[in-house]
Amino acid sequence: MELYFTNGEVAIITGAGSGIGAGTAVRFAQFGVSGLCLSDLNGAGLQEVRKKCIEQSAGRLDESTVITVIGDITEEETCAAIVDQTKKSLDRIDILINNAGIVGVGLVEHSPISQFDCFMKTNLRSVVVLTQLCIPYLRRTKGSVVNVSSIAGVRSFPGRSNYCMSKAALNMYTNCLAVELAPDGVRVNAVNPGLIDTPMIDKHGLVGEQRKKFLEDNKKCHPLGRVGTVDDVADSICFLASSRASFMTGNLTFIDGGRNCLCPR
Ligand code: NAI
Repeated sequence: MELYFTNGEVAIITGAGSGIGAGTAVRFAQFGVSGLCLSDLNGAGLQEVRKKCIEQSAGRLDESTVITVIGDITEEETCAAIVDQTKKSLDRIDILINNAGIVGVGLVEHSPISQFDCFMKTNLRSVVVLTQLCIPYLRRTKGSVVNVSSIAGVRSFPGRSNYCMSKAALNMYTNCLAVELAPDGVRVNAVNPGLIDTPMIDKHGLVGEQRKKFLEDNKKCHPLGRVGTVDDVADSICFLASSRASFMTGNLTFIDGGRNCLCPR
């Protein structure tokens, strides 16, 4: 396998205990990073992913170069711990993947304002706090940021206004940060996935046959005729974070089988 990362790169990945974040961590390990800081609320998930990263790194990574920070990303202390521990144990920050996020349902008319606050805190504010702390380090390495947004940031879905708004703002944040950091050689991009088969789907309350039907029904929402996989997204994140994408910044890359092009008729 040709390596994407050969200059001692160190990456931080939030929400690395499950789904897209977990898959991205393993891909980074396979593609040659020299250090990983994996963070999540879910400590058990993190430990499993950490083990997999070490196994898949062809001997490049070990217990000392894959560190974990268990904590709630909405707490500023967790963001500070991620940066401090990465600095202390791995000495540099080249790549920041802002992936942790939540999904949920609620009609505009009936959703408590606490739901709005929760989405904004998790999907947006935490990104702003953590990124701000990482910027001085990213400047030194001429590093890169990839934000995990969503097709819901550019297309509206009934019952999903808080999620859609949080991801729309994340896309705009990506663009603003890209132009602010471009003079320093720091690139900032986002991925906007369509429906990806991850444990997040279970959080819609769908299980068994219902889950299967949801995925089957969703195939037709994606012109390529299928829903996405974790690897579809992880591979694009690795590419955007690597020097192979050296002339890409401010991109809101769709990983959605063409879903963003559809218009109901
Ligand atoms: P997931 O639920 O499998 O993983 C999300 C991870 O984030 C979990 O491990 C969870 O513990 C962590 N997390 C959530 N809130 C946290 C908090 N406050 N502090 C620390 N960690 C927290 O979901 P998935 O699908 O892997 O989602 C990852 C990202 O991809 C999210 O930002 C999501 O919005 C985005 N996305 C997912 C799509 C999908 O269809 N699965 C589609 C488009 C975007």
